[in-house]
Amino acid sequence: MKPTYIAPSVLAADFANLERDIKMVNNSKADWFHIDIMDGLFVPNISFGMPVLEAITKHAKKTIDVHLMIVDPDRYIDTFAKLGSNHLTVHYEACTHLHRTLQAIKAAGIKAGVALNPHTPVSLLKDVINDIDQVLIMSVNPGFGGQSFIDNTYKKIRELKEIIMTHNANTLIEIDGGVTNKNAKELIDCGADILVAGSYIFKSEDPTETISNLKAIIS
Ligand code: DX5
Ligand code: ZN
Repeated sequence: MKPTYIAPSVLAADFANLERDIKMVNNSKADWFHIDIMDGLFVPNISFGMPVLEAITKHAKKTIDVHLMIVDPDRYIDTFAKLGSNHLTVHYEACTHLHRTLQAIKAAGIKAGVALNPHTPVSLLKDVINDIDQVLIMSVNPGFGGQSFIDNTYKKIRELKEIIMTHNANTLIEIDGGVTNKNAKELIDCGADILVAGSYIFKSEDPTETISNLKAIIS
């Protein structure tokens, strides 16, 4: 059985009780923290920035997976690495020189990810697949939590898995948006390795239990 990971998206946490929610994730069966940084330009929403990430990393005891939904992400690679990101994912659509950006992330000593909007085909990553630690397939339009899952994602995962295998790459597949107990198993069966879940976890009655259930479904 391949390892699979659950990454709760802190975007759906209660920001007035952030320390409590971070500790809940620490003490749960979740594997990573997923942190969404939005600039109001690449996506039509602004989430939070460096000071909040710094506060999160002070308490978080698991892998910090940062998803940059910002234009020109190269400007901030070193900053996010220094703030404690373990994985840094940039959007394909925001990078003119993606290969260069991936090298810069690795030079900062952390794992490099590439995110694809729902309209962006996975085939565009063929020539850099061996340079990517993880591909994040957006299963909603980026910018907001709580949206409905886009079904075309299953097909994209299968296509990407094929590309990864053909190129003998070790790239992991991460799915972000609209993940629930209803689609988790099928996503893993199609080839996903990491499931990001925001509102499904944090808006549930018992988030710790919800994480355990998700983990059980995909293990
Ligand atoms: C959306 C973000 C997601 C979001 C997922 O732009 O990238 O990480 O928090 O939230 P849910 O799980 O509520 O769709
Ligand atoms: Zn995200």
